[in-house]
Amino acid sequence: MTAPSLSSALAGRKVLLIIGGGIAAYKALEVIRLLSKAGAETMAVLTKAGAEFVTPMSLAALTGHPVRQDLFMPDDETAMGHIELSRWADLVVVAPATAGLIAKAANGMADDLASTTLLATDKKVLLAPAMNVRMWLHPAVQANVARLKGFDGYQGMAVVGPDDGVMACGEFGPGRMAEPPVILDAIARLLAGQDGRPLTGRTAVVTAGPTFEPIDPVRGLTNRSSGKQGYAVAAALAELGAQVTLISGPVALDAPVGVTRVWVEAATEMKAAVDAALPADIAVMSAAVADWRVDGVASGKIKKAPGGPPSLALIENPDILAGVSAPGPRRPKLVVGFAAETSDLAANARAKLSRKGCDWIVGNDVSDEVFGSDGNAVTLFTRNGDEPWPRQSKTQVARKLAQRIADHFKA
Ligand code: C5P
Repeated sequence: MTAPSLSSALAGRKVLLIIGGGIAAYKALEVIRLLSKAGAETMAVLTKAGAEFVTPMSLAALTGHPVRQDLFMPDDETAMGHIELSRWADLVVVAPATAGLIAKAANGMADDLASTTLLATDKKVLLAPAMNVRMWLHPAVQANVARLKGFDGYQGMAVVGPDDGVMACGEFGPGRMAEPPVILDAIARLLAGQDGRPLTGRTAVVTAGPTFEPIDPVRGLTNRSSGKQGYAVAAALAELGAQVTLISGPVALDAPVGVTRVWVEAATEMKAAVDAALPADIAVMSAAVADWRVDGVASGKIKKAPGGPPSLALIENPDILAGVSAPGPRRPKLVVGFAAETSDLAANARAKLSRKGCDWIVGNDVSDEVFGSDGNAVTLFTRNGDEPWPRQSKTQVARKLAQRIADHFKA
């Protein structure tokens, strides 16, 4: 729901809705209805594909204005030219933002009224993507979205959604357009000048996944970290506007939209990558870094020998978290570590907090099923006490943590 202080941001404001071609287009009607109810004035641009899903008649009735569909219509252009239309609005909302519309906007194409308006506007643009899950996860779409977010300072592109869930096509995953009240909330935040991105201008370094410590060119020591929690934290920080560098061990996950990923394998590489990414305002070290590495990695594959298996000499890895937390000019303002424990979570986490010198520890009991799973029950340990969070998805844990980080900087 839109907070009362935010809903007042909508009264008397002008919103131009661009409706692309997708089954989610019917939800655009509800967005217009909610906007009108909140006292905003709306106009609609309907793409050719959009007109396959909603009628110009419904849009005209709900907006109280003729619907604009074509770039070259003398009557429309004399009433309000397409450039004027793009400037009339206080905010431009694309809902649904299809893969095609996103691709056009990301590449500066202007071959119809919708894409031309997006290029010509001097106002903030909010995209509400909606497409099949495979399409949304395709690197081409992700790259286009990252590009549009990167235009932030210039054109102010913001993104709301998409949500996870069952899709009209029967598949499951991210791609459903955000629900109308959520879009309304995002519109209100943008118009209130608080674009819902309290970490804009902040930089963050996040480590995630396992490390891989080589034994020889083909073997190594690693662990069962999936990287899901750390990737979710990187995504959540980026969603709040932070510029995120994600230093990742080997995992099978796509880089979150708008996040710069640096691949590493061994802990020593991870440490070097973290050092290179500093200074930063925020450090979240969620990687499961191996405590030891092999001393004297063999340059060739170690052969099976009649004398029995070789013995491996191990040496200690650098503690990346402790290094980042050490006082100094490059220490991030907030350093968050993770503690995975199988027993005595609180005592171990608190001990880690003081031993490593970080500000917060996210502790989780891994005696339960955590590795690779999508859920997580964690406790946030700070110097002000412990805060157990209920079991929730790793995405929700990440969003809650990112919000706590944003609150910390606001305070
Ligand atoms: O000591 P332990 O491995 O349990 O501590 C976990 C925390 O320390 C995590 O935040 C992890 O990313 C970090 N860590 C690290 N470098 C190490 C070991 C752990 O950054 N060598």
